[in-house]
Order: sequence, then structure tokens, then C-alpha cells
Amino acid sequence: MVDNTTPLPNPEGPDDETICWCIGVSRGEILQAMREKGCRNLDTVCRATRAMGGCMTCRYDIEAIIRAELARQEP
Ligand code: FES
Repeated sequence: MVDNTTPLPNPEGPDDETICWCIGVSRGEILQAMREKGCRNLDTVCRATRAMGGCMTCRYDIEAIIRAELARQEP
């Protein structure tokens, strides 16, 4: 659960940074799924990368990365 004391995930960082430790999915793989496979939300990104296939604590980090990338893609 996110409340006012929970630090927001940082959507920026190196592409080789592991975001989902259970499955071993990096930031770069998430961005690649968005840029090359057209994934635009948590469901499609996770299906393409297999991220969130374990404990699911990576959810907020993945959502932050998706939001930041969608903002970058806007014209
Ligand atoms: S860290 Fe992603 S499912 Fe556990």
C-alpha cells in the first residue's frame, strides 16, 4: 500500500538495473517491451517480460517506469 510516507519509485536509472528480482527483468527490458512491442500498460508489459511473476513488490517501480516512458513518448 502506498501512503504519504512511502517513497515514490524512481523511474529513471540505468537500463541494466534489475527491476523485477524474482524473474530477473531489467529496466531496459521493460522499455524495450514498450518501444518495440507497443506495450503501454502494466498488464501488457508484464505479459511481454514475465515481470511480476513472483512476489509482485516490483509493481510500483514498473508502473513508474511505464508512466515516465509514456510521458516521454507524448508529442
Ligand atoms: S520482484 Fe517482481 S515479482 Fe518479485
